[in-house]
Amino acid sequence: MRLDIFTLFPEMFPAVLGHSIVGRARRRGHLQLCVHQLRDFSPDPRGRVDGTVFGGGKGMLLAAEPFAQGLDQLGEHLGLRPHILYMSPRGPVLNQKTARRLAEKPALAILCGHYEGVDQRLLDEYEVEEVSIGDYVLTGGELPAMILADAVSRMLPGVLADESCFTDESHFSGLLEYPQYTRPEVWRGRAAPEVLLSGHHGKIEAWRREQSLAVTQRNRPDLYQAWLKNQGQGT
Ligand code: ADE
Repeated sequence: MRLDIFTLFPEMFPAVLGHSIVGRARRRGHLQLCVHQLRDFSPDPRGRVDGTVFGGGKGMLLAAEPFAQGLDQLGEHLGLRPHILYMSPRGPVLNQKTARRLAEKPALAILCGHYEGVDQRLLDEYEVEEVSIGDYVLTGGELPAMILADAVSRMLPGVLADESCFTDESHFSGLLEYPQYTRPEVWRGRAAPEVLLSGHHGKIEAWRREQSLAVTQRNRPDLYQAWLKNQGQGT
């Protein structure tokens, strides 16, 4: 996948997206990531990218044109128009299903807002999909963009060692993940559940399923109810 990010703070990205699994995905060519300085696309000679809000209101708004210039140049360079996302607390909240859908796109462009946001006409003109990472407000779209890039990258074919890495984990099946244990068998007087040391795969599977259901019901009753409803529909 090709992933382009437009931001006023490109230097925030390498530490997070240059290491671990995403860093390896880039080195192996599963992900081609380019982070662009938004000011480079400003028509203003001093690189201004913002303006006051029409109609009044506090703070400054990012203008449409620098993003538009960046996206047009990118489209020409790639020979295709990437699917465009704008990180915003106003969008639908990111979940695993969205990450999986976005991972199927050949090219994504993520726009990072700052200040009071961006001119609405940019979002309308480029049919931008708004995405939130949760019901709270951050100072900018950079951290949300990194989170989205991480969640999408790990779903790309070949990035994780094998598919069970994500088919077993929280949110894939609509349930949260069961608890897991490693050495030593007894730690500070707490023994790992005996069934996990039994070697009996059927019993281990059944225990894990039971635990997944219990943890989902306890921590996320909303997900549990949705899962129950799905079961009723035979899916
Ligand atoms: N920018 C500021 N807050 C945000 C949030 N919760 N999600 C996405 N982008 C944001």
